[in-house]
Amino acid sequence: MAANETRSTSAECPHAGGTAPDEDRREKRRRVPDIPNSERKTLVLTGASRGIGHATVKRFSSAGWRVITCSRHPFPEDCPWEMGEEDHIQVDLADVESTERAIAEIRERLQDQGGRLNALVNNAAISPKLPGGKRMNSIDTSIEDWKIVFQVNFFAPIMLARGLIEELKRAKGAVVNVTSIAGSRVHPFAGSAYATSKAALAALTREMAHDFGPHGIRVNAISPGEIETSILSPGTEKLIEQIPLRRLGQPEEVAKAIYFLCTEASSYVTGAELHINGGQHV
Ligand SMILES: NC(=O)c1ccc[n+]([C@@H]2O[C@H](COP(=O)([O-])OP(=O)(O)OC[C@H]3O[C@@H](n4cnc5c(N)ncnc54)[C@H](OP(=O)(O)O)[C@@H]3O)[C@@H](O)[C@H]2O)c1
Repeated sequence: MAANETRSTSAECPHAGGTAPDEDRREKRRRVPDIPNSERKTLVLTGASRGIGHATVKRFSSAGWRVITCSRHPFPEDCPWEMGEEDHIQVDLADVESTERAIAEIRERLQDQGGRLNALVNNAAISPKLPGGKRMNSIDTSIEDWKIVFQVNFFAPIMLARGLIEELKRAKGAVVNVTSIAGSRVHPFAGSAYATSKAALAALTREMAHDFGPHGIRVNAISPGEIETSILSPGTEKLIEQIPLRRLGQPEEVAKAIYFLCTEASSYVTGAELHINGGQHV
């Protein structure tokens, strides 16, 4: 990809919040629920190594879920979470074959749960920028860059959902696609490829709700606004004065909404797109 992706290169531990001193590690080990995999609900989550995905792992893990995390980084050796490595899958969602291999691996690992999957959260995405964080517009973005963005942000979510449909059916599970405020209005920093991939993902969510619903699977989207993570561009602070709540959102606030859409509290909600943006779109 010619443009910068503006992402950090270091992986946080997806399961417990980065490196921890020994004392902290022992304390976290004690928090691993003493429940066999066969009795735990399971989430497959892409893009778990940072930001919103990282907060989502913590939200579900603290409720006793098994979380199978997927990202490009290998599992950090110093992760203090006991089951972390066993539940991490290294995958490049920009690569079709790597994604297909990951789906096969996930299906294998779900055997412990009788081949049931309670939730799939398609959270991983890329938002490439020009040098200096400038927006990649619809005139200059190369078709190659456009295709990579669509592969990660749009095709990987439908590949995963279709690849895991039997497991989702068995659990009457839920899918949450992470879209963006940039999918419904031109954004000062998000590029055209990113924005159109998110608009397509929002449309796909409706299509999937229609098609997966008869199988007992709910499909919803969450659309974050300006959430404080490494995907944001320098200058985002200037947008705060246009946000009714006058602050950036925190990854934990998005994770709570994802949890709602994956659990009983939203049992009759499907085909919805929930906006988590402090009122930025009103
Ligand atoms: N933060 C915001 O303000 C905001 C606003 C609107 C929408 N969103 C959406 O919210 C979601 C999460 O955003 P975030 O801010 O938490 O992003 P982030 O901090 O940049 O994290 C992105 C995650 O995606 C993974 N990823 C990227 N490319 C990948 C690939 N090719 N294969 C596998 N994994 C890949 C990364 O892991 P590795 O680097 O380890 O692969 C990382 O865990 C995205 O869908 C984003 O579009 C965020």
